[in-house]
Amino acid sequence: MAQLWGGRFTKETDQLVYNFNASIEFDKKFYRQDMLGSMAHVKMLAKQGILTEEEKEKILKGIEGILEDVEKGRLEISEKYEDIHSFVEAVLIERIGEAGKKLHTGRSRNDQVALDMKLYIRDEIGALDELLQELLETILEIMKEHIDTFMPGFTHLQKAQPITLAHHMGAYFEMFFRDRGRLSDIYRRMNYCPLGAGALAGTTYPLDREYTAELLGFFGPTLNSMDSVSDRDYVIELLSAMSTIMMHLSRFCEEIIIWNSNEYRFVEIDDTYSTGSSIMPQKKNPDIAELVRGKTGRVYGALVSLLTTMKGIPLAYNKDMQEDKELTFDAIDTVKGCVKLFNGMLKTMQFNKERMYDSAGNGFTNATDAADYLVNKGVPFRDAHGIVGQLVLFCLDKKISLSEMTLEEYKAISPVFEEDIYEAVSLETCVNKRLTIGAPGQESMKKVINICESYLVENKKCLSNTYIDYWVEYNKLSK
Ligand code: ARG
Repeated sequence: MAQLWGGRFTKETDQLVYNFNASIEFDKKFYRQDMLGSMAHVKMLAKQGILTEEEKEKILKGIEGILEDVEKGRLEISEKYEDIHSFVEAVLIERIGEAGKKLHTGRSRNDQVALDMKLYIRDEIGALDELLQELLETILEIMKEHIDTFMPGFTHLQKAQPITLAHHMGAYFEMFFRDRGRLSDIYRRMNYCPLGAGALAGTTYPLDREYTAELLGFFGPTLNSMDSVSDRDYVIELLSAMSTIMMHLSRFCEEIIIWNSNEYRFVEIDDTYSTGSSIMPQKKNPDIAELVRGKTGRVYGALVSLLTTMKGIPLAYNKDMQEDKELTFDAIDTVKGCVKLFNGMLKTMQFNKERMYDSAGNGFTNATDAADYLVNKGVPFRDAHGIVGQLVLFCLDKKISLSEMTLEEYKAISPVFEEDIYEAVSLETCVNKRLTIGAPGQESMKKVINICESYLVENKKCLSNTYIDYWVEYNKLSK
């Protein structure tokens, strides 16, 4: 057992208690953030005259060495320490002696862990944002390529009206675009530095919190020390945004699974993204899509779990909050993995244009357009709706589509029909006449594709200022 707080105790901690309390097994994940935070803290302490320049140099060099050794695999983060904070401090003291004991001046693990978690979440927001940008790029490519790939649009999973693959993909573009927006909202709200809040009530040392905040790329310091150590809103917000990302991915997966089924065959998932069956030799299963759909529950679980953990916690820090880490880290890794895998699957997927075209051509997806045709010839819409209902009944009976009816058959149901009905109910007309912005018609789709394209160019790295390049930051801090 290696802990920072033995002074007031007369007995050793029970081993089970020690293990139950320790967090190093998971908080070692933010070792970099912890050390960068410490480096900023030490620089600030020296600027304020709380540490000497010499002590500062010694500590910075010491932490720099530990960071490098951990990164290069020369120093293992030993689980004999209670948490990552204790590990760094203990190794530092071991390596540089007395000066190392001053690292924790004017700081508590409560503001330290709040800082580490914020730095970690901020970096992961940046990483996730980049993955979403890549996914949007893939979706846009498909949109550009399939502006005239006709397919049925569904409501209630029943064929409704014809659309294009570009239009269908465009719906997902909007979803992931909003997801990125949510990430940048979170960043804007969370990017204030809690370090200097101490255990809960600030400190009597003359800390320069603005300076620490600036060194670590925050907009400024947080304004209430009690809230600083007990705020995990940004974690909940990220879990919520990630739950929405998973919900979007899951719906997309569900469609791909349906489209990939033998009955539909709209798409073929690439061999590299499919798996087989141990017993049925013919099988090629969409396991990746199913797994992404399945992992959605895990991310929702993390959100509900943390909301529940936080709901009864009085101010300020309480140990319950240590429970924020494992589930959040797991959720972040899960979502990042899912976006990446999903993107790869989508990129390599083949679209069966003919199957989609044929499917759009049957199932009366053009029935609304047949009614609109009558309306254009002066028939009131409600009557037109009834007439086309009769056409559908007739076709169902004969097992044909609207475009396969003869003009005589049309005229027998309503004399208003003329030769131009065939053009009016063709897939091409049904789609390309829909020209309001947001509709699938080629011309309106082109406008939307242009907007999506310029958004992607302008927001290549929309959170690039938050995504700390560790080596740049590290060099800045170690000077
Ligand atoms: N491991 C703790 C956590 O994750 C760090 C803060 C501990 N603070 C304390 N007073 N015990 O929340």
